Amino acid sequence: LKSTMLIDKDFAISPVDPRLYGSFIEHLGRAVYGGIYEPGHPTADENGFRRDAIEAIRALQVPIIRYPGGNFVSGYNWEDGVGPKSERKRLLDLAWWTTETNEVGTNEFADWAKLVGSEVMMAVNLGTRGVDAARNLVEYCNHPSGSYWSDLRISHGYKEPHRFKTWCLGNEMDGPWQIGAKTAVEYGRLANETGKAMRWVDPTIELVACGSSSSGMDTFADWEATVLDLTYDQVDYLSLHAYYNNNAGDTANFLASSLNFDQFIDSVASICDYVKAKKRSKKKIMLSLDEWNVWNTIGSSRADERWQVAPPEFEDVYTHADALAVGCYLITLMKHADRVKMACIAQLINVIAPITTENGGPLWLQSTYYPFLHASVYGRGTVLHAITSSPKYDSKDYTDVPYLEAISVHNEENGEVTIFAVNRHLGESMEFDVDLRSFGAVSLIEHIVLENDDLMAVNTKANPNNVVPRSGGRSAIDNGRVKAVLAKASWNVIRLQ
Ligand code: AHR
Repeated sequence: LKSTMLIDKDFAISPVDPRLYGSFIEHLGRAVYGGIYEPGHPTADENGFRRDAIEAIRALQVPIIRYPGGNFVSGYNWEDGVGPKSERKRLLDLAWWTTETNEVGTNEFADWAKLVGSEVMMAVNLGTRGVDAARNLVEYCNHPSGSYWSDLRISHGYKEPHRFKTWCLGNEMDGPWQIGAKTAVEYGRLANETGKAMRWVDPTIELVACGSSSSGMDTFADWEATVLDLTYDQVDYLSLHAYYNNNAGDTANFLASSLNFDQFIDSVASICDYVKAKKRSKKKIMLSLDEWNVWNTIGSSRADERWQVAPPEFEDVYTHADALAVGCYLITLMKHADRVKMACIAQLINVIAPITTENGGPLWLQSTYYPFLHASVYGRGTVLHAITSSPKYDSKDYTDVPYLEAISVHNEENGEVTIFAVNRHLGESMEFDVDLRSFGAVSLIEHIVLENDDLMAVNTKANPNNVVPRSGGRSAIDNGRVKAVLAKASWNVIRLQ
């Protein structure tokens, strides 16, 4: 198996917006309670935040985290989550049929986000609420002082405004499962008017309109076109959500799903540009892939055991194959860095997440933690077009799937070039020859590889280091070219300077 790649520092796709490596924490399952927050845990700080989680998340250098949902936000009254904790109500959450204690709310999350070095991507409730609650929330969070809501924030102990910059206008409003689901026209009008009022409170904010919940929705494409038609001048981004799973047990087909991801991004960009053309607008709508991941436990909700507090939900145990898929999605996102400015791996901890904790117990890292870590840490700079050649295969749902999935990022600041590559071949290693012509003499910093003979290998509490990357992959520099061998079914990070 032989593959090649040609990169040139002048052939740039786009600088990477660091928010491409964002994530998501929803009031769902044990993401908040038991994940980031567990007073009484041996590692908890004075505010109840688990220090072990803070450390694992800080290491990921996540620039932005979406909050508080997700489906949860469509029934959330943000006022229930601020003020003295002793006065907060326990309420039924109809999104997940649990009891929400409201111990963590906007201010606590803002505090926590600072600890992990992230911005907050706030979502407003456009399911059960609308213009009024949203503009009040912006006033509470971002207005300095001298008004009812900003002074209320100050009275809650937050003198300085949070200055949240990025705001999602609702969540998955096209989904029948959503509290207060809407037609595209209903949503588009509401999002436009809500966004307008929010911006009148704080003109510096950026707004994200809901796209479809997935490309599989019957209303997909029409939804995007109608919503944008009604919101175009008001919003900056359109959201996309995409989840994949390997439940059919066909890993070759599963690893090809990034082709679907790629197609989805292209399609939504085209719809944005169609509306742009129709409106003769100069403005280009950017994309926010604010939920993406492998989700094998999709559809397994504990509907019959209602009203528990933070029950375990969607606690996927990710395999080596899942980590390769995540690697392919990350490469796909980088390839679209000119259009996708934000993306959130969904989610960050315990719920479909790269990090798992036990209540009262330890934390461990899932297989998918590693490709995300590498992309976030080394994938900063300018994405370069990759001219690649690779043998291809056909799978159940895809044709012409290249065994090689690869991209490179040039970090002009530190002079490093990083190549990210997945060998999708499940049985054979691949020779990989990279022509770096414009870079002159380069040297190898390291070749990190995530490989495993068992595609289904996972990390568990008992065996947390079963799927971990190692340095020392097979790469050499030969006459300004990289000559590498990519192990079968592997994720590779080749770092050069
Ligand atoms: O991330 C889990 C759920 O998936 C979110 O709440 C929802 O937006 C999506 O359907």
